Amino acid sequence: MDGVPQGTTDKTFYLETFGCQMNVHDSEKVIGTLLQEGYRQVETVEDAGLILYNTCSIRDKAEQKVFNRLNDYKKLKKQGKKFGVLGCVAQQEGAKIFERAPYVDMVCGSASYRNLPAMLVQIEAGMRATGLDDRETDECFETAFTARTNQHRGYLTIIEGCDKFCAYCVVPFTRGKERSRSSSSVLAEGRQMADLGYTEIQLLGQNVNSFHDPEGKKTFAELLTAVGEIPGIKRVRFTTSHPRDFGRDIVEAIDASPALCNHVHLPVQSGSTRVLDAMQRLYTREQYLERISWIQSARRDISITSDIIVGFPGETEAEFEETLSLLTEAEYDSVFTFKYSPRPNTPAIHLDDAIPDEEKARRLAVVNEHQRAIGLARNRKRVGLVLDVMVEGKNEARGQWIGRTAQNMTFNFVAPSGAELAVGGYVDALVTTSFPNSLVGEMVWK
Ligand code: 5AD
Ligand code: SF4
Repeated sequence: MDGVPQGTTDKTFYLETFGCQMNVHDSEKVIGTLLQEGYRQVETVEDAGLILYNTCSIRDKAEQKVFNRLNDYKKLKKQGKKFGVLGCVAQQEGAKIFERAPYVDMVCGSASYRNLPAMLVQIEAGMRATGLDDRETDECFETAFTARTNQHRGYLTIIEGCDKFCAYCVVPFTRGKERSRSSSSVLAEGRQMADLGYTEIQLLGQNVNSFHDPEGKKTFAELLTAVGEIPGIKRVRFTTSHPRDFGRDIVEAIDASPALCNHVHLPVQSGSTRVLDAMQRLYTREQYLERISWIQSARRDISITSDIIVGFPGETEAEFEETLSLLTEAEYDSVFTFKYSPRPNTPAIHLDDAIPDEEKARRLAVVNEHQRAIGLARNRKRVGLVLDVMVEGKNEARGQWIGRTAQNMTFNFVAPSGAELAVGGYVDALVTTSFPNSLVGEMVWK
């Protein structure tokens, strides 16, 4: 069989990932680890000896989705296939998963991935394996074998876990306590990525502003600047920022270094100080808007995006309207909006989730409509600008190239006929038309 050295067993795995960028990047590390252990990745559950789900439990009935998926493939157990549940649902539900789905062989939370090689040996030997480190873990999951899926833009973890304990959020329980990597190991990995041809690095963490260099060498803003100075790196992004820890030095770093993308994702969650307090977000509306004013007064045009939760327990109509007015003041380029959903273990689970789902859905639609108008007005002002665009692919049917701006917007553009652009390359393009969430235009010669 292709790619499998003679005399080795053909161990195969299928991995499906749910959830956030952190999970996507964890999967890249898990895949790398499995390949290193002699496994081969396949595209379908039918072809796989080991079926893995990297799960998410941030919202909705995530556990249920995982059990439904497991149930769909239960019949494959008879063929000797093994099942593993990874990620946040694994950490949250723990050994209960074995009770509900006895055919599962492995349950492993993200804080235990460094034990995967040993766990794989256990399940191959017909035993069950459990990796459920609690919040005591001090280590990050670092591996030399990360199998990144994109060859041009890649994730790089700088901090794992979260110590904020926002009232609605399951993350501090599923991803463990906050722990930063050393700036030298981050920079070494960044240089390695540049050597492999990456031009864009996205620094990842639940709360990147809490980065605390164990070597004491660099602040987060200094780390950003240093990553931007790696030869070959043209774009540096970072996500997610927490408003409480967001310092002015980050805005100054973006202003000073063209390699740092002019985009900040700064989730506000609510525009009402009363609701923010109930959410235990550790800032007021005014403090949040002060940070927005730092960003808005930068020399570069920094795009701002956010996350909003509607229908948090006790949110009144007037408080909801404060969120709408905050959207207007912050002039976001886009927002991700969510209906509040109660999560196990979180402090808010004890609050009465009394706002009916129809009302949450109405607030969601209102906030989305409000943001649409703001996004459209922002993008109209961009018509006539020439922007630097990273080429991501081509929409053959429309004859348009698909690209991404430094501000993280999708930019669909036409190139002169016959021009074959390289995916991962950079071109200049003129904005001719705009939509609430994307730009349209044409390539211009540099
Ligand atoms: N209900 C709804 N939205 C949530 N988020 C996190 N937890 C919940 C929850 N229980 C949203 C927040 C966060 C984003 C990643 O998901 O807006 O910033
Ligand atoms: Fe969750 Fe709050 Fe931590 Fe973000 S900062 S991961 S919302 S607890």
